[in-house]
Amino acid sequence: MAKEIFAGKKNSKYKIIISGSAVSKKNIGPILKEHRKVLIISDNGVPLDITKKVKSISKNFCKVFSITLIKGEQSKSIQNFQKILNFLAENNFDRTDIIIAVGGGVVGDISGYVASSYLRGIQLIQIPTTLLAQVDSSVGGKTAINISAGKNLVGAFYNPKAVLIDTSVLKSLPEREYKAGLAEVVKYGLIKNKYLFSLLIKNPQKVILMNKNIIEDVIFESIKTKAEIVSKDERENGIRALLNFGHTFGHAIEAHGKYKKILHGEAVAKGMFIASKISYLEGHISQKYLNTIKDLLDAYKFDLSVSQYQYKDLKPFIFRDKKIRSGKLNLVLLGGPSKAIITSSFDSNNLKKSLTF
Ligand SMILES: NC(=O)c1ccc[n+]([C@@H]2O[C@H](COP(=O)([O-])OP(=O)(O)OC[C@H]3O[C@@H](n4cnc5c(N)ncnc54)[C@H](O)[C@@H]3O)[C@@H](O)[C@H]2O)c1
Ligand SMILES: [Zn+2]
Repeated sequence: MAKEIFAGKKNSKYKIIISGSAVSKKNIGPILKEHRKVLIISDNGVPLDITKKVKSISKNFCKVFSITLIKGEQSKSIQNFQKILNFLAENNFDRTDIIIAVGGGVVGDISGYVASSYLRGIQLIQIPTTLLAQVDSSVGGKTAINISAGKNLVGAFYNPKAVLIDTSVLKSLPEREYKAGLAEVVKYGLIKNKYLFSLLIKNPQKVILMNKNIIEDVIFESIKTKAEIVSKDERENGIRALLNFGHTFGHAIEAHGKYKKILHGEAVAKGMFIASKISYLEGHISQKYLNTIKDLLDAYKFDLSVSQYQYKDLKPFIFRDKKIRSGKLNLVLLGGPSKAIITSSFDSNNLKKSLTF
């Protein structure tokens, strides 16, 4: 059964449809019929059957143009940003035309930034095709590209017109990518969503094997939590920081490996366990609950080992993190079951300890 949810506020509110057949004429048609031209952006790692389907549906309503980027993070570049903008201008796209992003977070992020800036904004449909993009990057309106000084340093907050999450496209996703996306799912269960937490505890096998009935629920619950948080704090001034649970340490681990050794979700899984241990050491959660979290992460076969990292090596990355405000490190910790808190008052010895037990 298709599920629908809304995110965003007032005139930038948008519909998110989650189903095993969300890429359909029924869902795409009503949006495209108001437009004359569409640019479909994807990359060469997105299975062709998905992009072909989007193109053939779009042809019924609009003149279709397409751009296929080279797969990988390096495609979120200024050069590609400019290339796509020029393509739009050369083909006389105007503000009444539309872009469809079909792909993972890389395609979604650069397409979103293009849409936010071409003629000061043209409409965008997100069709996320990785689990990470379906449960995280396609919702919330953050768009970005990378510059040589760092990742995601340039971008805009720009909500799409609609997000179509088709769970059937996940079947071609490599297991490692799928599992990395599951780390963000576990995050929603830990920071807010009790129902999702128990769903994950009760059904690891079904979730790992992408059981059709359960995966729709899992994605819906994840998006529901993300949508609730980002709709309350669209520009990241407050509670949106809760979504960074596990990310201060996760980012440090990724940066320490120069972004080559480990996927984002794999680093976040380690980071969430570190943050859970600190939450226990700080007296916010019981040992029993810490064990429940460990069992959950183990059931999904996340590699939680951190003995390869010395605190002194991660420290510079931890303190460079964007969660620093007015010189103080704000940590996102657990305040109890399915509850996250943001705090700058903690014993820094516990940061160190969390890497060694
Ligand atoms: N905007 C946000 O709020 C936000 C949030 C989290 C992450 N991000 C960004 O998302 C990016 C990571 O996204 P990602 O993990 O989706 O990576 P990705 O977009 O690079 O996709 C991973 C790989 O999977 C391929 N792929 C896509 N769909 C597939 C499918 N259905 N079957 C098989 N292969 C498929 C892609 O071609 C790519 O090679 C990063 O750039 C990160 O900064 C953005
Ligand atoms: Zn993340």
